[in-house]
Amino acid sequence: MERYQKIEKNGGGNLGEGTYGVVYKARDKQTNDIVALKRIRLEMEDEGIPSTALREISLLQELRHPCIVELLDCVQSEGRLYLVFEFVDRDLKKYMEAQPGTLSRGVVKSFLFQIFHGLAFCHARGIMHRDLKPQNLLVSKEGRLKIADFGLARAFVPPIRPLTHEVVTLWYRPPEILLGSQTYAPPVDVWACGAIFVELLCKRAMFQGDSEVDQLFKIFRSLGTPSEETWPGVTALQDWNPAFPVWPPVKLTKYCPSIDEAGLDLLEKLVVLDPKSRISAKTALYHRYFDDLDKQQFRQ
Ligand SMILES: Nc1ncnc2c1ncn2[C@@H]1O[C@H](COP(=O)(O)OP(=O)(O)OP(=O)(O)O)[C@@H](O)[C@H]1O
Ligand SMILES: [Mg+2]
Repeated sequence: MERYQKIEKNGGGNLGEGTYGVVYKARDKQTNDIVALKRIRLEMEDEGIPSTALREISLLQELRHPCIVELLDCVQSEGRLYLVFEFVDRDLKKYMEAQPGTLSRGVVKSFLFQIFHGLAFCHARGIMHRDLKPQNLLVSKEGRLKIADFGLARAFVPPIRPLTHEVVTLWYRPPEILLGSQTYAPPVDVWACGAIFVELLCKRAMFQGDSEVDQLFKIFRSLGTPSEETWPGVTALQDWNPAFPVWPPVKLTKYCPSIDEAGLDLLEKLVVLDPKSRISAKTALYHRYFDDLDKQQFRQ
């Protein structure tokens, strides 16, 4: 760990704390680069770092894409595990909070495209994110967006106790997970993109539930309660309840009146209840909503 020197903010603050640990800004003494140092909090610290976690981490180190935050190094020190990431200016939540008014249409389009660009790359390699949210999307000063924490959910079982008092957000969680599905597949991340798209446009998350059932009902009130006809297999999911109220679908423009026709069409393909019918990240890249975007700038 001698290689990395923490940069203390006034008063010694850190960049933030999440599900797995604390993030510090640090300097790599060998290269003089600024990095983000994430100390992973392991549930059973005495038992050492699980080999499965280390295998996953080495896979993630191979994941190089301009829209993915690069995992530079993995250091074990005194029984603790530190992940060293490239440092990116700030997360999308803080970016939106700092911006007066709404983001420009061009910025929304560029950010969303970059999310799909990074996502398609990882999904093609069988790696899911599982926890996409504005805090895990980092934005550089040049307007480049990079997805952080890719694959961490598979490398480390999320701790039972939350690290901070902040509750784990449910706002980006898809209906299949809320209904108890145990299989995490790429559509989970695509759903989160739909919720984030609305938030980029309106600075308000699409479905802001405060409990799992509240989250699920907010989704059903908007998209309509699913049935075997609209989502084959839904009634077999663990937490499906035949007594769920039956709501009809409403127009999605209710969530963001400012959305244009092509954007609405894309949104309707992202927030589809049945994960099998949801658009893929790769197909989304070719959606006509992005037709007027200069895609050359995102070439690798
Ligand atoms: N590579 C990075 N460069 C700059 N800041 C970062 C980097 N990675 C994380 N951060 C900042 O640190 C914060 C905390 O990160 P962390 O991932 O631990 O928590 P989180 O994103 O809020 O939640 P989760 O653990 O569920 O991902 C982030 O929200 C972000 O603001
Ligand atoms: Mg994070």
